[in-house]
Amino acid sequence: MRIILFSGKGGVGKTTLAAATAVRAAAMGHRALVMSTDAAHSLGDSLAAPIGPEPTRVSRNLEAMEIDVHHELDREFGPIRNFLTRFFKGQGLDDVVADEMAVLPGMEELFSLLRVAELAQSGEYDLLLVDCAPTGETLRMLAAPDVLRFYFRKIFPVQRLLARTVRPVAPLLTSLPVPDDDVFMAVKRLYERIERLDPLLRDPLVTSIRIVLSLEKMVIAESERLFTYLGLYGYSVDAVIANRVLPASLKGAYFERWSRAQAGHMKRVREGFSSMPILESPLIDEEVMGTRLLRTLSDEVYGERDPSSVFHTCRPPKVEKRGDSYVYSLDLPFVSSDRISAYASGDELTVTIDNWRRNIVLPRSLAGREVKEARLRSGRLSVLFGGR
Ligand SMILES: Nc1ncnc2c1ncn2[C@@H]1O[C@H](COP(=O)(O)OP(=O)(O)OP(=O)(O)O)[C@@H](O)[C@H]1O
Ligand SMILES: [Mg+2]
Repeated sequence: MRIILFSGKGGVGKTTLAAATAVRAAAMGHRALVMSTDAAHSLGDSLAAPIGPEPTRVSRNLEAMEIDVHHELDREFGPIRNFLTRFFKGQGLDDVVADEMAVLPGMEELFSLLRVAELAQSGEYDLLLVDCAPTGETLRMLAAPDVLRFYFRKIFPVQRLLARTVRPVAPLLTSLPVPDDDVFMAVKRLYERIERLDPLLRDPLVTSIRIVLSLEKMVIAESERLFTYLGLYGYSVDAVIANRVLPASLKGAYFERWSRAQAGHMKRVREGFSSMPILESPLIDEEVMGTRLLRTLSDEVYGERDPSSVFHTCRPPKVEKRGDSYVYSLDLPFVSSDRISAYASGDELTVTIDNWRRNIVLPRSLAGREVKEARLRSGRLSVLFGGR
């Protein structure tokens, strides 16, 4: 089973390449499902097929869907949301604000991911192709499991949940509502589903991100930042797809300067992403819509390759023992140390890059230890933890 997410800046061709990949994979005999998690769905337009919020057959071996998070959110999150509304009202917020606050940050994105995971584990498909929203929203989606885990650990005594004790011993402040059993059971179920996401999404042999970009300076800069943040959140990138590459036949005359600029940018992409395959997707001479053109495009992109293969794996985070100390390390390409901060508290390591923060729950062996040193070398951050 494989999950491949297509991510990148707005308008670069994510939907087109996710659909093209799906069409080709299905033609090669893989049971493929292509799904859009972008609220501004355009997957149906790309496939030129009517699709909806449930998997819909497009052609042999190929199904497609556009996720409707609100439906899932209402079904799974109802009791928790009601409780949180009461909780925030108890803190003095007015009704409307409390209701808004009750959808915790990342909750909507989390439900997209949970749906992806559920379909991946359904046994119905060999391959899931996920057409993502532009960079920022995709990162919010990929960060959602950690963000929600963080909130739940703060708001609900999750450790107790996991120990199968349903209620807290006593509410912290008597004026605050105490979650009843329904709420706790709902939180418990949701927390367990979040816990099951990790082994699936952070296994580089199961889940890969394909970064789609066009050969333009701003797009490449954003793609490099995306690669850094994906490293922070522990996701593996298996290829970069450079889209709308001008075909050789257009060189000369009007397109000469564009061609030269693209060649220069391609060099930067090849150097920056040197560890992984850079696939080229040519500019097609008409809007790429419908399975026939998608197939033409995907044949150009993948050549002889099977698009469901793992083209590359990024190094996962690692914990190593060094004498009395431990080192936690993770790959953070394209970033300078002045953009990173890292600190540990209790059993969490918090790493921030630019505006993106991740609370990493540390293995038991590292909990309660002090951070002695954090060092960035050759694109890998190493955090040294001292004795307890
Ligand atoms: N290689 C290509 N050749 C010609 N047209 C292309 C190519 N790739 C994409 N397009 C066209 O560019 C437009 C935008 O592509 P697409 O919708 O796939 O981008 P996107 O990254 O999904 O955009 P958004 O960020 O808005 O979701 C579409 O009309 C598509 O047909
Ligand atoms: Mg799109």
